[in-house]
Amino acid sequence: MSSLFSRAMCGALFLSAFAFGIAQAQAAGEVNVYTLRQPQLITPLFDAFTKETGIKVNVIFAKDGLAERIAAEGGNSPADLFLTADIGNLTDAVNKGITQPVKSAVLEANIPAQYRDPEGHWFGLTARARVIYASRDRVKQDTITYEELADPKWRGKICVRSGQHVYNIALFASLIAHNGEEKTKAWLEGVRDNLAKKPAGGDRDQAKAIFAGECDVALANTYYFGGMMTNDKEPEQKEWAKALKVMFPNTANRGTHMNVSGVVLAKHAPNKANAIKLMEYLSSDEAQRIYAEGNHEYPVKPGIAVSEAVKSWGEFKRDTLPLAELAKLRKRASELVDEVKFDQGPSS
Ligand SMILES: [Fe+2]
Repeated sequence: MSSLFSRAMCGALFLSAFAFGIAQAQAAGEVNVYTLRQPQLITPLFDAFTKETGIKVNVIFAKDGLAERIAAEGGNSPADLFLTADIGNLTDAVNKGITQPVKSAVLEANIPAQYRDPEGHWFGLTARARVIYASRDRVKQDTITYEELADPKWRGKICVRSGQHVYNIALFASLIAHNGEEKTKAWLEGVRDNLAKKPAGGDRDQAKAIFAGECDVALANTYYFGGMMTNDKEPEQKEWAKALKVMFPNTANRGTHMNVSGVVLAKHAPNKANAIKLMEYLSSDEAQRIYAEGNHEYPVKPGIAVSEAVKSWGEFKRDTLPLAELAKLRKRASELVDEVKFDQGPSS
């Protein structure tokens, strides 16, 4: 009798818990995310968010074309949030008219002003420095500046990906902001003439080229170095990393150029309130740690732990130029890259 009773009680409890679960999920609703960031990087974050809030996160992953897709979907787009890397891609989304501004005290408190749009159209969520990878054997100096890459002492010793790549355009725009257009053009000519070969490949390819002795220094983002140091799938990349050191340029003056990965709220977001909740969650201590650690990036929120690999490169001074200011100079930077024929490599 008692066992029947307890079984009945148990069933009732189970049923009510089940019903509660459905009701909670329905009440909490969902949020639709379009992302160019890798699944393994953000899936743990979305799972944690759902666990905490009951809000289901539907994700569309792609390698490119998502901003165009949101624009083409227009008012019928199911997209609530769009996640992408680089200030160039974030501002392109704004320029395509697919974003809307967000006013959130939580986001403003967690994300330093330099890493978000003053109008609230984009917010940085993780940060990366564009640094100089250098050969441990062949580069003896301990400090470096971006400016000195134009010095003839580096003739035939620099490797870099295309000057038109968004990562380089942001760096070059920062040089225009700090040094002016004329000096930046002369600098681009100097760096071009110091190149070991025509710009090609990605940042990791430049690391490989230094390892192979084709050049001594390269411009590259920090997280690739973390990726190489910990690459169990392609252990030869660990050897590349061992042959290199990370040099943070300009630490004696303005600091090292910083860029971000970030998020925008879609103009026609059907689940706007949930989308803002997810944005705020991504800026929280817990999410900042998981997000930045997953790709060896820096949290945008100060005081959050970084991965062991990131820690091993040490502290450095960050350039505090607001990315919104830099964004205005991207077009000019791109024109200068063409004007000096940077991607054609050394002129002599
Ligand atoms: Fe990248």
